[in-house]
Amino acid sequence: MATRKRPASTTTTPGSIASVMQEDRRFPPSNEFASHAHIGSARALRALHDHAAQDVVAYWEEQARELAWFAPWKKPLVWKHPHAQWFVGGTTNVAMNCLDRHLGTWRRTKAALIWEGEPGDVRTLTYQQLHTEVCRAANVLEQLGVQRGDVVAIYMGMVPETVIAMLACARIGATHNVIFGGFSSDALRDRINDSSAKLLITQDGAWRRGETIPLKAAADVALKKTPSIRNVLVVQRTAEKCAMKSGRDHWWHLRLQAADARHEPPALPSEHPLFILYTSGSTGKPKGILHTTGGYLTQVASTTKMVFDLRDDDVYFCTADVGWITGHSYVVYGPLANGATILMYEGAPNWPESDRVWDLIERHHVSIFYTAPTAIRSFMKWGESWPRKHDLSSLRLLGTVGEPINPEAWMWYHDVIGGGRCPIVDTWWQTETGAIMISPVPGATVTKPGTATKPLPGISVDVVHADGTPCKANVGGLLVVTHPWPSMARTIVGDDERYRETYWGMFPKTRTSAGWYFTGDGARKDRDGYIWIIGRVDDVVNVSGHRLGTAEIESALVSHPMVAEAAVVARPDAIKGNALVAFVSLKTGARIKNLPALKQELRTHVGKEIGQIAKPDDVRFSESLPKTRSGKIMRRLLRELVSGAAVMGDMTTLEDFSVLEKLRSSDED
Ligand code: PRX
Repeated sequence: MATRKRPASTTTTPGSIASVMQEDRRFPPSNEFASHAHIGSARALRALHDHAAQDVVAYWEEQARELAWFAPWKKPLVWKHPHAQWFVGGTTNVAMNCLDRHLGTWRRTKAALIWEGEPGDVRTLTYQQLHTEVCRAANVLEQLGVQRGDVVAIYMGMVPETVIAMLACARIGATHNVIFGGFSSDALRDRINDSSAKLLITQDGAWRRGETIPLKAAADVALKKTPSIRNVLVVQRTAEKCAMKSGRDHWWHLRLQAADARHEPPALPSEHPLFILYTSGSTGKPKGILHTTGGYLTQVASTTKMVFDLRDDDVYFCTADVGWITGHSYVVYGPLANGATILMYEGAPNWPESDRVWDLIERHHVSIFYTAPTAIRSFMKWGESWPRKHDLSSLRLLGTVGEPINPEAWMWYHDVIGGGRCPIVDTWWQTETGAIMISPVPGATVTKPGTATKPLPGISVDVVHADGTPCKANVGGLLVVTHPWPSMARTIVGDDERYRETYWGMFPKTRTSAGWYFTGDGARKDRDGYIWIIGRVDDVVNVSGHRLGTAEIESALVSHPMVAEAAVVARPDAIKGNALVAFVSLKTGARIKNLPALKQELRTHVGKEIGQIAKPDDVRFSESLPKTRSGKIMRRLLRELVSGAAVMGDMTTLEDFSVLEKLRSSDED
C-alpha cells in the first residue's frame, strides 16, 4: 500500500475542466474479505464485465431473472431514444418481490426492519410482520379510493410506517411521491400539486434532537391549496395534539387495525410507474423524476447484492432519509428485495451525544454502513474519541454516496471506523440513474481514496469533451452514460421536453452517434480507467449531501418583497462540501434599517419557501450584480469571488467592471 500523495499535475486542454487532485494510495481488498465475497477477485470481476459487454441486454435479463415475475417479458429492451422500456410484456409486483417472495423461505421469521426511534424505543418487524402491515395498509388505501396509477404523497420522517406506506403503494400499483420531511409547507404543496396526488400520508410529528417537528401542522398549511388531495392518513408517532379535519383526515393506526391482513398483490406491467421523486435542476422548478417497476427493481436489487456484497447474516445500516433517492433504492427496495436485515434510525446522529451512530452500530451489530461524505466530515469534527468508545468490530464494509469524498475523510473512515479492515465502496449515481452506476466491487476492486473507481458490469460511461470527443487520461471533461440501463429515469413528470433537453440535448442522437445521457457532472478518468468526479457543471450544488438548485433558491429570494435580483453560488466548505452564498440586490427605494436583521429575514424566507436545508449560509447585498451585456448574471465570477480564488476567467462580456470591485468590498458587510 503506497501512502504518497502527489500534488496536482493534471493536464488541461482548452475547453476541458481542470481537476487538481492526484491521489496515489491504493487499497486492494484483503484476502480475508475477498475469500468470502460474492465476487472475490479482479479476475472474476473482469470475467463478469466481459460477459456483460458481450450482450449487455442479456446481462440485465439474467439479473431480472433473480426477481419473481408473474409473466415473463417478451422484449428485454425497447429503446426509442431517449425513452427506454425494460422487460416489456413482463408483469411483476415490487412489494411481492420485497415481501411475499421471502415468506415461503426461512426468511419469513427473519428481521426485515430493526428500527430505533430517537428517544431510544426499538421495534423489530420480521418479513412476516412487515408483510402483514403492508397488506393492511394496501387495503386501507384501496378503501380510501386509491386506484392503480393514482399518486400518493408521503410526507414523513424515518419511521417504519414510511416504509410500510411506500410498499403498500407499490403493492396496489399507486405511484408514491415521497417528500422529504425537512421540506417546507410551500415545497410540499408544489410537489403535491405538480404530481396531482390524491392522498397524503403524514405523521403527527417527528423526533429530532429531543424535540418534535410538527409534520401534520406543516401539511395542514399545504393542504389549504392542494385541491387534488381527497384523504389524509396520519400516523401517530409523537402523540402531540394535531388537528384532524373530519371526512378528510384519518388516523393510520385506527384504519389499519380494522383492515384485513390479507391482500393479493396484482400483476403489474414492468413499466408501471413505481414512484416520482422531485429533485433539483438548473431552473427554479424541481423535476419530478419518474421511475418504473421491473427495470428499477432489477438494478437496485442486483447492485445492492454486488456492491454491498450482501449476505444473509448482515445487518445493513444506510443513514439516508427515505425522502431522497438513496433512501428509496438502498434503505427500502434494494435491501428488502434481497431479504436483508435493515437498521433504520429516526433521529439526529449527534443525539443525545455525538456517538449515537457508533452506539447504534455496536448495539445492533451492524456489518454494513452506508453514509455520506458530509456526515463523515462531521464525525471527524466531533472527534475520534466518540467512535473509540464503541466496539465497531461487527463492521465489515463501509460505503459512501452523494458527493465526492475528500481523501482525508476517506482515510479517516477507513482507519477510525473501518479499523483498516473494511473495504470502502464509494458509489456514484443520481436520482435519475435510480441505482448505483460507478462503484468498487468490494472483494475485487483495488480502491483509491476519492474515486468511485469504475462502472459496474452492464454500465457504460465515458468522459468526453463538449464536442463529444473522448478525453485523454487525466483530462477533465463531462461524464456521460452511453447505453440505456434498467433503472434509468423514464421522464420528468409533465415535462418530457425538459427531460429530453436536460439529459439528452447535450449529446444528441445523430447519424453517427447513438446519443448519450449527460449526467451534469464533470469528471476525469485516470490511467487505470478510474473515474474521479470533479463536481456539477450546471447550477446544481451539493450541500451536506443534499442536491439543491441555485435557481430554486434565487426564485425564493426574489419572491421576497424587498428583493430585486438574486444570484446564489457555492463556496467550498470543510464540513458541508459546499456552502451557499446569496448575492442580493434590493428594490429601488427599499428602506433597510437593519442589515443583519434583513439577512436573517431573507434566510428565514428561503427556509419557509423551500426548507431549512436551502437557507443560504451567507447573504451579501449589492447595488447590482455582474452581468453580461445581454443581461445574464455571471455566476462564474461570483463563484470565483466567494471561493477566494482570483477572479480570472473571461470577463470580456462583463457589462460594468466596477460591480466586481464593489462586490469584493461588500464581503464583510
Ligand atoms: O454530482 C454527483 C453527486 O451527486 C449528484 C446526484 O445527486 P442526487 O440526485 O441527489 O443523488 C445523490 C445520491 C445518489 C451527482 O450528479 N454524487 C453522487 N454520488 C457521488 C457524487 N459525486 C461524487 N462521488 C459520488 N460517489
